[in-house]
Amino acid sequence: MHLLTVIGARPQIIKAAALNRAIRNGYVDRITEHILHTGQHYDTDMSQVFFDELGIPQPEYNLGVGSGLHGEQTAKMISGIEEVLMSRPFDGIILYGDTNSTLAGAVAASKLHVPIFHIEAGLRSYNRNMPEEINRIVCDQLSTLLFAPTQTAVDNLREEGFFAEHDTLHRKVVNCGDVMYDNSIHFASVAAQRCDIMNRLSLQPEGYILATIHRDNNTDDPQRLEQILSALVSIARKDNIPVVLPLHPRTRNKLTAQHLRLLDNEPLVMILEPFSYLEMTLMEQNAKLVMTDSGGVQKEAFFFERPCIIMRSETEWVEIVQHKAGIITDADYQRIVDAYAQLTHCHVSFPPLFGDGHAAEKIIQTILHENSYR
Ligand code: UD1
Ligand code: UDP
Repeated sequence: MHLLTVIGARPQIIKAAALNRAIRNGYVDRITEHILHTGQHYDTDMSQVFFDELGIPQPEYNLGVGSGLHGEQTAKMISGIEEVLMSRPFDGIILYGDTNSTLAGAVAASKLHVPIFHIEAGLRSYNRNMPEEINRIVCDQLSTLLFAPTQTAVDNLREEGFFAEHDTLHRKVVNCGDVMYDNSIHFASVAAQRCDIMNRLSLQPEGYILATIHRDNNTDDPQRLEQILSALVSIARKDNIPVVLPLHPRTRNKLTAQHLRLLDNEPLVMILEPFSYLEMTLMEQNAKLVMTDSGGVQKEAFFFERPCIIMRSETEWVEIVQHKAGIITDADYQRIVDAYAQLTHCHVSFPPLFGDGHAAEKIIQTILHENSYR
């Protein structure tokens, strides 16, 4: 089979590593993977570093689309992906998650009748103000194989009629587990061996908080961003604990003079460039607690049994909240500070909810099996 894998944003490059590794380890005789990078993320520390560290081959195609308004960016991607899909026969396209790169891949492939295999299907925030919610709904609708990472994701798709008895579209939903969990298991010890980030930052295990912020409604609203930064400053001061904040470029670009004043006055809040994946993995494993609005970081905190403050108004990863390993606080100063007090004083459990670490293998076997009936 010839499969086209579309990646573009940081988490997609990371997720793609799991499938690429599994193909290289056992299926090269049956699957040729062609990687296409849309260029949605392009800074070295948002893109190339992950190819180097996770051992992913350089993309065969790079559209170099870059940043832009949603329509402009997505349109360029659709056009570029379409051209590649028309350049040779493909047996399927692999799409990850819910970014504009995902949406573009789904639109281009569906018009050319190329089967779509969506990894991380079925997630819903039920908040259509999120661009990601729109992207994932459209991609799921157009997909042939929907690889759901959790039971909740399967249930969401059932609610939307994907299991209807007479689904003439022959779509198939598979609960395969989470490819990010595959990666976290695979790279946890590698990170411990290879990374000296904690020494470089003079941090002790459980002696710091790890935070990330990049969600558009948090970065593009100065007041929400101020509430979050004020909460970080307040927690750092009160507990005399460093808060490590590797900053997404989107967030760095949105810092106002007022935000910078807040941060300049508190050296315990450490503003850094984005971490590499191995650095991030090590930092997550050793953090006292994680504070984030990232989907992926919420999950990795859970994988490494770290409590997590979710600085959004809802989450797709509802299991984390249901098991009380995470608390939703929105961008609300008081709710963030209260959640910190609560999570640092109660016992939290982390049952296995995201598969068995072999999601990639299950995905490949399903693709091969389904292809044999085509
Ligand atoms: C995108 C995804 C989001 C995902 C996130 C992962 C969409 C709609 N959003 O959000 O779902 O959680 O990636 O990180 O697809 N920038 C740089 N250098 C880069 C990349 C971005 O400076 O290498 C800056 C640019 O100013 C750009 C801004 O970040 O305008 C936003 O980038 P974009 O890819 O549009 O969205 P993200 O916020 O990264
Ligand atoms: N990540 C990273 N360096 C960082 C921040 C995040 O390598 O400085 C990794 C993180 O470990 C996870 C992924 O990026 O695997 C999550 O991506 P992001 O938070 O950008 O997007 P989301 O998951 O919200 O779509």
